[in-house]
Amino acid sequence: MNKERIILKLGGSVITDKSSGDCRVNRPVLERIAGELSSREGIVPLIVHGAGSCGHPEAKEHHLDKGLDHTNKAGVFITHRAVCNLNYEVVNALRASGVEAVGIHPLDACTAKNGRLISFDCKPVELLVQNGIIPVLHGDVVMDVGQGACIVSGDQLISFLAGNMAVDRIGLATDVAGVFDPDGNVIRHINKRSAGSLEIRGSGSTDVTGGMRGKINELLLLAETGVESELFHVSRVSDFLDGRDNGGTLVSP
Ligand code: IPE
Repeated sequence: MNKERIILKLGGSVITDKSSGDCRVNRPVLERIAGELSSREGIVPLIVHGAGSCGHPEAKEHHLDKGLDHTNKAGVFITHRAVCNLNYEVVNALRASGVEAVGIHPLDACTAKNGRLISFDCKPVELLVQNGIIPVLHGDVVMDVGQGACIVSGDQLISFLAGNMAVDRIGLATDVAGVFDPDGNVIRHINKRSAGSLEIRGSGSTDVTGGMRGKINELLLLAETGVESELFHVSRVSDFLDGRDNGGTLVSP
């Protein structure tokens, strides 16, 4: 039986306490997700995670989303350290559940131009997956040929991976059930046409990558390449992994 290859993004808001100004990792959630991944034989996951309170505040304080100047060079190290520490926690939680996982850091291998990824050699990621080792990537500060440095979100990484590797399904676990309409109901399906008229609420906490609007824009770009993705509440990860209805929002071409 061919195993299904799945990209699972763990939003920073679910693996950290994003309401806190300081980095606070949500270990119980990480442990639960690690347990769910360890018990599934039929899938090969690639994990991408966001930064939450372990990266967004640092990136904002050093205004790295606006690029590099003579005042904020130390922000590259400080922001990268914050997300790498979080990555270490995610990898450790997976390994503690028996999932063979290793961290991959975008700063080491990616190049961007004005905030958009222009190169990333996916071959090591592909070889890890082929050898049964789960790569765990994350949103990161990335060097940028246009503006010195920028912040590449986990969502943008997903688009890049999906454009350069064979992937069967993509899911984003978040702290909300999906994208809501003005009446508070989950919009079950978004595409380019319907997205134009949507009013999407911004994120209440520090977010240098555009919150829910940034996420949906990224997923719509991905959809334009013919790849659909699903956004759902973190409590529905099992449903997503098993291919059941997860009550969330499908973003399609
Ligand atoms: C942000 O990544 C990366 C940094 C701020 C360094 P994401 O934009 O994917 O993070 P979340 O999921 O919104 O927290």
